[in-house]
Amino acid sequence: MSVVTTQMHGNIAVVTIDNPPVNAASQAVRQGLMEALHATEASQPAAVVLTCAGRTFVAGADIREFDKPFLEPGLPELLNAIEGATRPWVAAIHGTALGGGCELALACSHRIGAATAKIGLPEVNLGLIPGAGGTVRMPRLIAPIEAARLAVTGKPISASEAHKLGLFDAVAEGELLDAAIQLAKDAAAKPLPAPLLTRDAPEVDRATWDAAMAKLTAKARGQTSPHEAAAAVRDALDHDGVTALGLERERFMRLKASPQSAALRYIFFAERMVGKTPHTKGVAPRPLAEIGVVGGGTMGAGIAAAALLAGLPVTMVERDTDAANAGAARVEGILGGSLKRGLISETKHAALLAKFTTATDYAALAKADLVIEAVFEDMDVKKQVFAALDAACKPEAVLASNTSYLDVNEIAASVREPARVVGLHFFSPAHIMKLLEIVVPETVADDVLATALALAKTLRKLPVLAGVCDGFIANRIMTSYRREADYLLEDGALPYEIDAAMRAYGMPMGIFEMQDLAGLDIGWAARKRRAATRPAHQRYVEIADRICEQGHFGRKTGQGWYLYGEDGKPTRNPEVEALVLEEADRKGIRRQSFEASDIMARILACMQSEGQAILDEGIAASPQDIDVTMVNAFGFPRWKGGPMFQRTTG
Ligand code: 3HC
Ligand code: NAI
Repeated sequence: MSVVTTQMHGNIAVVTIDNPPVNAASQAVRQGLMEALHATEASQPAAVVLTCAGRTFVAGADIREFDKPFLEPGLPELLNAIEGATRPWVAAIHGTALGGGCELALACSHRIGAATAKIGLPEVNLGLIPGAGGTVRMPRLIAPIEAARLAVTGKPISASEAHKLGLFDAVAEGELLDAAIQLAKDAAAKPLPAPLLTRDAPEVDRATWDAAMAKLTAKARGQTSPHEAAAAVRDALDHDGVTALGLERERFMRLKASPQSAALRYIFFAERMVGKTPHTKGVAPRPLAEIGVVGGGTMGAGIAAAALLAGLPVTMVERDTDAANAGAARVEGILGGSLKRGLISETKHAALLAKFTTATDYAALAKADLVIEAVFEDMDVKKQVFAALDAACKPEAVLASNTSYLDVNEIAASVREPARVVGLHFFSPAHIMKLLEIVVPETVADDVLATALALAKTLRKLPVLAGVCDGFIANRIMTSYRREADYLLEDGALPYEIDAAMRAYGMPMGIFEMQDLAGLDIGWAARKRRAATRPAHQRYVEIADRICEQGHFGRKTGQGWYLYGEDGKPTRNPEVEALVLEEADRKGIRRQSFEASDIMARILACMQSEGQAILDEGIAASPQDIDVTMVNAFGFPRWKGGPMFQRTTG
């Protein structure tokens, strides 16, 4: 069957695109639309309604075609042809009209959206700018700074906002198709609006524009596409439509061939590939109606809040009443924050709190379908908790641990039915961070794994599957590059130089600033715990221990790797820098000076070799699992794809 079909509804032609899953504008769709245009230009219905079957309006150009030879007709040519139609074309938008889909809607003479529809220009997220008139037509339809906001941030907007801005002519109150046909009939009775491409661009004061663009691109760090998108919209204001379209296309083609776009496209598909495993194919997950959480500290509270925000009732068990109250206060704090930021309404806030209970007795977890343990990182404590869960929970309940490093096989082996134990390693803050490492013990049942994946979906998390080892994927790689950063200190770099090199590479924060933020006492406790089992031949850097011995645990104590003044900003810590030189001297290391690129080359090589070991041991199934983890757990620059992807690009 053709991916584009046309049916008459009275004197209105309804052109339907049906190209699952997201109606991407593939060659077949472009061809089909061109034919539909020719046919309707020949038959002259009163007007045309353009709609999509399935879950969404066109979600963009077909990204999978970007690496293949180009096939006619191109999207820009098609859209110019649609814009030149002699009958009104009404885009009837449901789901998400994104990128090329939004541009298709802009080429139509009218747009109507379902109340739940979203529209936007997310090309920047793929290292691109709109390539089929988005930066040219949009500022000729809505306020240019709003057009730039869409193109530069890549964030889609709601139907009501689109209507307010003038991007949608109407929002359908009832059935979208009926409303679109009515709009088409009304449009047929009036003169056609002038094509956007032929309209003059509005004047925008240069200073206002520059200030707005500086604000919009402030978070881009090393990513170039947001700056390119701002420049493209500026071009569109400075030139006539046709000239601007040519400039936009040139910019788009240059960016399509850029390493940043290749990396961003890679990570786009990698994020959709991970979390799929043959073990759960056709396996039904267990029910997930009620959640239990043990421990109401940083992680327990964050996990409970994440589950509540996803609509799941939560029971939290703590050691005693005081700890339970403290845990409840943390959860209430998080939900209160969501309310304050307008993310949830008063009514929803009250409803979520009503679904939350705390207890000190494990009997409260008797009905839970899945329980996540988030108590202290101590194997004995974890085993006591799992013994209590084994006794109190129903036999089919899934038992999960949020451990950061401990052996989940050993935890599983401690209960009567090891098959129901799985690791669910959330990242802090758990209600915000998207990544969820699902740690797969040897004994896990397939439907338990399927349940863990189903939970990830319900919580809107990005699941990556990891085998059992010390630190799994994320913390194992982090431990190894943190060690490398320590070596670099002794070998010749200072903390601020290493952090600056990492930030210059695109990381949001350097490794030492990050440790100061998390608190140096946590790593210190872990190092003391591991001291007895540390291989004697392994190089060990004592600088962090020395800092902790002086009671300096980072930001919370006012000093750590850095000094923190009233304003909370880190400044170089001369004591630490002296300590670094002292330690190198004590070990007889002749310090050398490093360029930022040398520092980053060593850190990157370390991430890559640990990543390769993780692959060799079967802890991660693919390089994509590692890259998705590094990008989403530690802010590895998305536009570099991840450490493993970097190996392929040199
Ligand atoms: N091209 C090709 N495949 C696409 C695609 C696209 N534009 N968008 C999504 N897909 C694929 C996904 O890879 C996935 O495939 P899989 O099932 O084999 O893993 C499938 O469609 C479903 O996608 P999601 O899992 O992401 O489904 P969701 O429902 O969670 O999200 C979505 C849907 C919001 C549309 C999301 O897929 C998305 O954001 N897509 C990308 C949108 C985009 O960036 N558009 C701009 C493209 S560039 C462009 O248009 C250039 C133009 O200016 C010339
Ligand atoms: P935390 O110290 O903030 O909280 C632990 C909580 O567990 C405390 O409230 C404590 O009262 C409670 N608890 C201890 N023993 C208990 C028991 N027997 N029964 C019930 N409750 C008990 O610790 P945090 O940071 O929340 O860490 C919890 C777990 O999550 C650890 O395993 C940690 O490794 C892991 N984790 C921590 C991350 C972080 O960034 N803090 C990130 C990912 C995982």
